[in-house]
Amino acid sequence: MSRRLDITVLVDPVTIPPDDRELRHPPNKPITEYHVCGALRHLGHRVTVLGAEYDIASVAKTLAQQSPDLVFNLTEQFCGDRRLDKNIAALLELLEIPFTGAGAMGLMLARDKNLCKQILTLHRIRVPSFMALPHNRTVRVSKNLPYPMIVKPAFEDSSEGIANASLVYDAEALLERAAFIHERWQQDAIAEEYIEGRELYVSVLGNKRLTVLPPRECAFNAEGDEGPTILTYRCKWDDDYRQKWKIDFGFAEDLDSNVLRSIQRICKRVYRALQLQDYGRIDLRLTPDDKLVILEANPNPDIAYGEEVAEAAEKAGIDYESLIDRIVRLALKRYT
Ligand SMILES: Nc1ncnc2c1ncn2[C@@H]1O[C@H](COP(=O)(O)OP(=O)(O)O)[C@@H](O)[C@H]1O
Ligand SMILES: [Mg+2]
Repeated sequence: MSRRLDITVLVDPVTIPPDDRELRHPPNKPITEYHVCGALRHLGHRVTVLGAEYDIASVAKTLAQQSPDLVFNLTEQFCGDRRLDKNIAALLELLEIPFTGAGAMGLMLARDKNLCKQILTLHRIRVPSFMALPHNRTVRVSKNLPYPMIVKPAFEDSSEGIANASLVYDAEALLERAAFIHERWQQDAIAEEYIEGRELYVSVLGNKRLTVLPPRECAFNAEGDEGPTILTYRCKWDDDYRQKWKIDFGFAEDLDSNVLRSIQRICKRVYRALQLQDYGRIDLRLTPDDKLVILEANPNPDIAYGEEVAEAAEKAGIDYESLIDRIVRLALKRYT
């Protein structure tokens, strides 16, 4: 067990119920914040919960007063804007308080789906061909795009803005979907070549030495042309819908050992190229001719019990408390 630490768990304030400000009484549904706080308390740490409220000056003041040994950073946005997740990390960097997960730079590089793909391209890591569709600017769409393309908000997460209508088959539909995203999400969009193949989620732990956990898979099992082949918002969040279309999350069991080694290598390269820290999850597709194409990298992915990272860790023999303990240790080690 780690030595007993004062840990402030920094969360999005909407996750703190007014009648349970220290997150001691988990509700019935799985919520990451409770799982992490529970594990940290079991590990013997003194846990304080703090919301990254709109009044950031008072958050900074509280953090400076608390001066914890570590901030466990569970924030993914600030005041509803995911683009500002990096600014919370930047604040912690300025306050010189050790914190878990990616720093401001890692969050910035991975958050922007266009920038992230540019960086990976520079590193010669295969990504779908793509074009940026900036908000408030006229874009000329090349005639030779490899349709179907998938059009997505550039800065969102958790399949926000991804529906079956995101898959487009011509320039007109592409521009229409981009205009919808600009209007609804008030942000840039990206259009990517649709990559057919198995969808894999690969969790990585570490900093100097990286551990790649067993790949998970989202299997789209609907027969014929029926059913979604992308993880739309509905697929991700609606259990009945997934059941209807035979979409299952599980382990990618039958991977060829060469493919598995390539996955491990490429995921480590992505993790380093995008400056992820402590833990991360790389999402990719394995094409029918065994090419690996990176869809995205997630710094600070969901570490709720039962979610992708925790499931993969468990399979590798790292139970939930040990996973949280490992993240704490990895974070602290970066500061010694
Ligand atoms: N280029 C692509 N080719 C095939 N499927 C894609 C592509 N981009 C996204 N998808 C599908 O959409 C899902 C969500 O896209 P992603 O870029 O990971 O957004 P988010 O950040 O919201 O998770 C992916 O898990 C995948 O199923
Ligand atoms: Mg994703």
